[in-house]
Amino acid sequence: MLSGKKIILGITGGIAAYKSAWLVRAFIKAGAAVRVVMTPEAKDFVTPLTLSTLSKNPVLSSFTQDEENELWNNHVKLGLWADFLVIAPATANTLAKMASGASDNLLLATYLSAKCPVYFAPAMDLDMYKHATTQANFKLLASFGNIMIPATSGELASGLEGQGRMAEPDDIVAFMTKDIRSKLPFYGKKVLITAGPTYEAIDPVRFIGNHSSGKMGYALAECAANLGAEVILISGPTALTVKHSSITVKEIVSAAQLFEQVKSYFDEVDVAIAAAAVADYRPINPADEKIKKKTERLQITLEPTEDSLKYMGAHKKSQFLVGFALETENEIENAKGKLQRKNLDLIVLNSLNDTGAGFRTQTNKVTLINASGTINPQELKPKKEVAKDIFNHIRQALHV
Ligand code: CTP
Repeated sequence: MLSGKKIILGITGGIAAYKSAWLVRAFIKAGAAVRVVMTPEAKDFVTPLTLSTLSKNPVLSSFTQDEENELWNNHVKLGLWADFLVIAPATANTLAKMASGASDNLLLATYLSAKCPVYFAPAMDLDMYKHATTQANFKLLASFGNIMIPATSGELASGLEGQGRMAEPDDIVAFMTKDIRSKLPFYGKKVLITAGPTYEAIDPVRFIGNHSSGKMGYALAECAANLGAEVILISGPTALTVKHSSITVKEIVSAAQLFEQVKSYFDEVDVAIAAAAVADYRPINPADEKIKKKTERLQITLEPTEDSLKYMGAHKKSQFLVGFALETENEIENAKGKLQRKNLDLIVLNSLNDTGAGFRTQTNKVTLINASGTINPQELKPKKEVAKDIFNHIRQALHV
């Protein structure tokens, strides 16, 4: 959730500031870019040098600091740069100023200018935490839409025991990740995607396969995960890998294995997309040993494979079902026929007649056809963009 995101980490003057160095590391490890803004008091607890080294960015703490020869630090620019502003540790003093709209330091001015979600992780002694003013400020900040990462209980710097310890850096990252995911449109939804080719064995070393690279299916999986879904990606042999922790890959080789996986997961998903290029036929009784070369003709008898998409169409309850159709002639008519025969909600037609579309390319040119027959032709686009178009269509249909 934080990968590729821009985070301003605001550090205020409390002993928990020593944990900020770990927090910068944790954000960077999660794939985020970090800029640190400190209050002047925070510099007594942790050095800007440590934080600039870890964040690989200059640390800002005053309006007039000379950054890259600018005479003043533009808090408006900073506020607009960020995807998230995280204030950790947030002292009682800074929280009170945030609640009242004071802006007597760069961090507060940045806070007032920021348009992005704001998280704050309070850290203070237990009595300060419990104080009616602090509690009222928590409520006020929540009413502004700011998100509190509650302090934990335990031994405090004062030697007293109670609530007021700043959440641990890894817990802050976990809290934010969960919070961001929970606001995504596909949060709580499960999506099944089939991708890649299947290989149907002729003998132990040979197979019938196809040119599918799996790129379209993997782009769809990535897109679904970015929208907050839990994804089951049933994948034939490809050279691709997934990075997203919400994608579970089930590797298969043959159409029969793909079918088994589809049967075991289909009931539990909300959306299923069949992007795999599944072999329609497989050799009957593949040879146990490598077939030796002879002078006469070799005949291999084929039998039909299981049609996973047809199975899903026949067994669907409330699932939104999407199929692909690769056609070379009578494209629209054939795709519409498939949509009806397989009881789909949407079919994605790609034509091998279009340059840049189909197997092994980075791009695809598709036409979306829905169950009521509406035909929606798209431009030639990178497969990632095509995946977005498909999910935009699904979102409209599901009203999410
Ligand atoms: N499909 C599947 N299982 C199969 C064959 C196809 O799940 N055994 C799915 C594909 O993933 C695709 C859709 O069905 O989403 C259509 O595949 P396609 O090969 O174009 O159509 P077929 O039904 O095989 O018909 P034909 O080959 O005659 O065009």
